[in-house]
Amino acid sequence: MRILKGGIAFFDSGIGGMTVLAECQKRCKGEIFYYYGDNKHAPYGNLPPAKIRRYVEKAFRKFRRLKVKAVVVACNTVTALCVDELRKKYPFPIIGAEPALYTAAKRGGEIFALVTRATYKSERFQRLLAETARRYPAAKVSAYPCDLLAGMIESHITDPEFCYERYFPSGEPNGVVLGCTHYIYIKEAIAAFYQCATYDGNAGIAKQLCATLQKQTNANKRSGKKSKKGQKRVEKGAFFGIFFLGSGKKGNKRLYKQMFVL
Ligand code: DGL
Repeated sequence: MRILKGGIAFFDSGIGGMTVLAECQKRCKGEIFYYYGDNKHAPYGNLPPAKIRRYVEKAFRKFRRLKVKAVVVACNTVTALCVDELRKKYPFPIIGAEPALYTAAKRGGEIFALVTRATYKSERFQRLLAETARRYPAAKVSAYPCDLLAGMIESHITDPEFCYERYFPSGEPNGVVLGCTHYIYIKEAIAAFYQCATYDGNAGIAKQLCATLQKQTNANKRSGKKSKKGQKRVEKGAFFGIFFLGSGKKGNKRLYKQMFVL
């Protein structure tokens, strides 16, 4: 299969990042997308950081070969662990996924932030927690590393009967931050369990991506370069404008169709 170069890449350990891709695809028309899911090694949340970095590097080397326009790290865990290192190393713009703590905390009250163990332990997330407490003292944010939840979603996503409740921390929060892109698949179940609003960063990521692409288009125009967007492009091998890559490409393609296309 010939993979067209110059698209926008999305990366996640597994299925989670497709929730982000779906949101971005709605907003960025006429683009080529890559979805790289490393499902074979998912979930990442309880793996040692060195191992996660190794898997991420493999994907990013592929993105470099594909001459991507931008990468969306559609994974809170990888963002928390190494987005700054990646930005230093690679020449393309990299957009990360951060737990939507500010949006939730603005409203005050008790907020639960559900994250993976690796995110919880990261310096980046701990800094975000401290900054949220400083900015929004009327909110009380409690962070919970949910060790099994992402893995359960990864393996039971197509089973509508599966009950995730036993993996939710108990309490009565006023808002829940979905700090892992896998959790977005079950946001209705989470909202129903706690009887409160949930918050995720997907709309923010899509907005950021559009702004990044617009900036590139403007810069290309100024320098007289032709922008690839809008050109008639052969999409052989792409499914709905997406090339699926990585160890989970077949399953992810199927799931994307089931969840986001039909
Ligand atoms: N979807 C990911 C995140 O946003 C990764 C979950 C995992 O692999 O543990 O954190």
